Amino acid sequence: MTSPIWQATAQAQPNIALVKYWGKRDDTLNLPAAGSLSITLDALHTRTTLRFDETLAADDVLFNGQHDDLQTRKISAFLDLFRTHAGIATRASVETANDFPTGAGLASSASGFAALALAAGRALQLQLPPHALSVLARRGSGSAARSVFGGFVEMTAGTRDDGEDAFASPLLNAAAWPLTVVVAITSRAVKDTSSRVGMDDSRRTSPFYRAWVATANADLDAAREAVHGRDFARLAEVSEASCLAMHAVMLATRPGLIYWNAATVECIHALRALRAGGTGVFFTIDAGPQVKAVCLPEHAEAVAMALRTIPGVAETMVSGLGEGARIIESDA
Ligand code: DP6
Repeated sequence: MTSPIWQATAQAQPNIALVKYWGKRDDTLNLPAAGSLSITLDALHTRTTLRFDETLAADDVLFNGQHDDLQTRKISAFLDLFRTHAGIATRASVETANDFPTGAGLASSASGFAALALAAGRALQLQLPPHALSVLARRGSGSAARSVFGGFVEMTAGTRDDGEDAFASPLLNAAAWPLTVVVAITSRAVKDTSSRVGMDDSRRTSPFYRAWVATANADLDAAREAVHGRDFARLAEVSEASCLAMHAVMLATRPGLIYWNAATVECIHALRALRAGGTGVFFTIDAGPQVKAVCLPEHAEAVAMALRTIPGVAETMVSGLGEGARIIESDA
C-alpha cells in the first residue's frame, strides 16, 4: 500500500488589536483573561505549505527559509494537537514564510498560527467549522485566533475551563468599513521580551494588571458599538485608551517592559497633532516599537508622508483591511 501524503497551502495575514489582549486566564490552553477586538490586514502575508508524510521520522520545518530549532519545537507541538484530533502520528514537512519582519511587533505569530491551523485542518480533512479553527489557532498564539477571520474581529475570552468558548468571530467585513493602516517601522530588531513572557510577567508583577482586566469589557463594548456605527472618532478614543492602558501595565511590570523607542513617541505626538487638525487617524502600538496608524482611506497618504519625515522612522508600509485565512492549494 502506498503511504498517503496530504498537503495543503494556506495564507493568512496579521491582525492588529484595537482593544488589546495582554494576559491569560490559563497558560496551558492559552486562554485570554479578557476579550479583544482587531482588524485583519491585507498587505502582509504568511504563506504555509504543510505536507503530512508517512516516510518522515520527524517534523521538518523551514521557517523563513531556515531550519530553526525553537520554531520547529513550537510548530511540532502545535501540529500534535491536529495529530491527536485526527488520531494519527504522521510527521509533516512545513515551509512557512513571512513577507514582513518576523518577531518585531508585527503580529507574525498571529498570521503564522492561523495559516498553519488552516493548512493542517485541510490536509487532514478535519472539516473544522471556523470557530473550531479559531480555538485551535488560539492554542498556537492568542492573537492567531483572530487572524482566522477578515475585517473587524472580536475575540471572546469565554468562561469554560476547556477553552471551547474562547474563540474569535467576525464583526464586520473589510469592505463594509475600508479603513487603511500605515505602519511606521522604527526598528527591525527582534524584541527582547516576547509577548508570551511579557504578559506573564505583567500578570504576576504589575500593580495595574487587575484594573486592566477589569476595564476590558467596557472598552470592548465601546469599540464594538463604534465599529457597528462606523464611528471613527469613538473608535479612535477607545483604541488609543486601550493601547496606552496596556503600555501602562507593561511599564509597571517588574522589571519594566519598555517596548517604545524615541521614534515611537514622536509618532504618537505627530498623529495626535494630525487628528487635532482634522485628519482621520489614530495610533496603536503592540509589544514592539512599530506604530500602526489607523486612518480613513482619504487621509492615508498624508499620514504616511508625515510619519516618513520623523527621525527614526525607517520605512512605512500601507495596508487596507483584508480577508481571513484561506486555502491557496490543496490535495486533500
Ligand atoms: C500586544 O498573541 O502574541 O499584540 O497568546 O502568548 O502567543 P500569545 O501572545 P500573542 O500576544 C499579542 C499581544 C499584543 C496585543 C494583541 O494582539 O491583542
